[in-house]
Amino acid sequence: MADFQHTTVMVNECLEALAPALQGRDKVFVDATVGLGGHTENIVQSFDNVRVIAIDRDQEALERSKVRLARWNHQIDFVHADFDELEDILATRSIQGIDGILFDLGVSSMQLDDETRGFSYHQDARLDMRMDASQELSAYEVVNSYEADELEKVLFEFGEEKYAKKIVAAIVKHRPVTTTGELVDVIKGALPAFVLRKSGHPARKSFQAIRIEVNQELEQLRRVLQMAVERLNPSGRILVLTYHSLEDRIVKNLFRKLSSSPHPIDLPIQVQPPAYFLVYSGGLEPTDDEVNLNPRSRSARLRVLAAREAA
Ligand SMILES: C[S@@+](CC[C@H](N)C(=O)[O-])C[C@H]1O[C@@H](n2cnc3c(N)ncnc32)[C@H](O)[C@@H]1O
Repeated sequence: MADFQHTTVMVNECLEALAPALQGRDKVFVDATVGLGGHTENIVQSFDNVRVIAIDRDQEALERSKVRLARWNHQIDFVHADFDELEDILATRSIQGIDGILFDLGVSSMQLDDETRGFSYHQDARLDMRMDASQELSAYEVVNSYEADELEKVLFEFGEEKYAKKIVAAIVKHRPVTTTGELVDVIKGALPAFVLRKSGHPARKSFQAIRIEVNQELEQLRRVLQMAVERLNPSGRILVLTYHSLEDRIVKNLFRKLSSSPHPIDLPIQVQPPAYFLVYSGGLEPTDDEVNLNPRSRSARLRVLAAREAA
């Protein structure tokens, strides 16, 4: 196995946010995106009372985190699944409620840096981008078999790519586009010269969009968040680390809705406060020191929602 690394993002902030929920006996923590196990390693080192359900849809990531976390295997249950299967995962283990859950969204550095996975516009590889290598839909099908208007919608909605129409016209003309390198060339050829001179890679938005489509990232996130919140025990906490505005907006809107009172605030009678509250009102960003050490953490934002204590 090649030696891929992934630097864990905002780990101290995550531990601090989870601490009030994981103190005490018989706590359950779900790492919904265990990846290479960085966050979970810190959790089990800090809380030996916690049972961890560690989920990832990437079998290779799971195998690697099992090795890394072998010392704590008695405490951790590794599950190869999509996180939106949470209900079943908990039900088959007879777990009614959870005390903490973390979603560290997106791809890991291992997935990005492994040239065989086709996630990166920096390396030439077959178009793939599947986080779960056993799934059927890959970037190749999205790029080569979607109708032009369908593909344009993907680039526009999931990449916020203003030049989606031009890019898709160029893709359709060059089909079949078989590698990431070819796709980058087609995108570059479709963009106006002044856009190519701007900072940032010209294929970044399109690659993000195709990856989100292949892995159904936003759909899965919408489905699982509500499910996870409903399973929180009193004082339980849900943490979400996002890396772009589309996923962050989904989390922000849901957390705001759940933490705001449905009643007008000037009612003369005493009403129940909302069942949940925001731990940080605007979300947390990594420190400058962390961004200097790990530039990939630059776009991270941590949002935390907590369930109130039992009355
Ligand atoms: C940023 S990495 C997590 C890194 C991890 N926290 C660590 O410190 O090593 C994201 C992981 O989430 C996984 N993932 C993304 N979407 C998923 C989903 N819907 N279900 C399960 N795993 C998912 C990816 O396969 C990837 O391994």
